[in-house]
Amino acid sequence: MIRVRFSNVSKSYSLINTGGIKTFIFNLFKQIKEYKKNKFIALENISFEIKDKEVVGIIGRNGAGKSTTLGLIAQVLSPTSGEVEVNGRIAPLLELGAGFHQDLTGRENIILNALLLGMSKSSILSKIDEIISFAELEEFIDQPIRMYSSGMMARLGFSIAIQTSPDILLIDEVLSVGDQSFQNKSKNKIFEFKNKGVTIIFVSHEIDAVEKLCDKVIWIENHHVKLIGTPEEVIPEYKKAFE
Ligand SMILES: Nc1ncnc2c1ncn2[C@@H]1O[C@H](COP(=O)(O)OP(=O)(O)OP(=O)(O)O)[C@@H](O)[C@H]1O
Ligand SMILES: [Mg+2]
Repeated sequence: MIRVRFSNVSKSYSLINTGGIKTFIFNLFKQIKEYKKNKFIALENISFEIKDKEVVGIIGRNGAGKSTTLGLIAQVLSPTSGEVEVNGRIAPLLELGAGFHQDLTGRENIILNALLLGMSKSSILSKIDEIISFAELEEFIDQPIRMYSSGMMARLGFSIAIQTSPDILLIDEVLSVGDQSFQNKSKNKIFEFKNKGVTIIFVSHEIDAVEKLCDKVIWIENHHVKLIGTPEEVIPEYKKAFE
C-alpha cells in the first residue's frame, strides 16, 4: 500500500518586494509584472513513493525544500503543478505550538488542538491526563499559554500530536526542541511508533538519528531529488558532498 506519492510535483512561492504599500499601489501594473516574474521555485519536478510502514528520512541543506515537502504532504501547502497523493491519517509535528491560543489555558488548548487534529471529544477526555503527564506540565496546565516557554509549548504540541493514533507521522526537526530529557523521551516514542508499524517521514539535520531510525533516505538538493536509497547508500554520498 502506498501512503504518499509525489508525481512530478513543483512548488513555487512568489517573492514580493513592494517597497511599502504606497509604492505598491502607485505602481500597481509594474508591481504585478514584477510579482509574476519573481517566482521562486522551492521544489521542481519531485517524484517519489512512500509505502505503508516505511520510515523515511529527508535530508538536505538549509533551504533545499524539505519543510516544503512535508507541508505538501500535510496539505497545508498545495503544489503549483504535479500531484500529491496521501492515504491515511496524518499527525503533523511541524511547527509545534503554532496553533495555540495565547489566552487559553494549556488544558483548553489541548482540547481545541486535538479537535482540530481530528480526535473525538471522548477520546480527548480519556487521554488528556496522559497528554499532560507526557508533557510534564501538570503545574502549568491551567495557566494561559502565554506563560509558557517555547520549549514548554513544543512539549505540549508533541504530546497532543502523538495521541492522535496516526497512520503517518510527519516530523520536522521537532525532536531537538525540548531539553535533553524530553528529547530522549520523544525519541523513544518515535521508535515505539516505528515498531507499531506507523509510516514516519522524518526531516532532520541529525544524520546519526536518520541513520538509526530510517529504512530509506531522500536527499533533496537544489529543489530536486538528488538521491533516494537505503541509509547505507545515501548517507556516505551525502557526507562526501560536504568534504
Ligand atoms: N512562504 C514562503 N515564501 C517564499 N519562499 C519560501 C517560503 N517558504 C519557503 N520558501 C523558500 O523555499 C525554499 C525551500 O524552503 P524549505 O523551508 O522547504 O527549506 P528546508 O529544506 O526545510 O530548509 P531548512 O533546513 O532551513 O529547514 C527556500 O529557499 C525558502 O527560501
Ligand atoms: Mg525546514
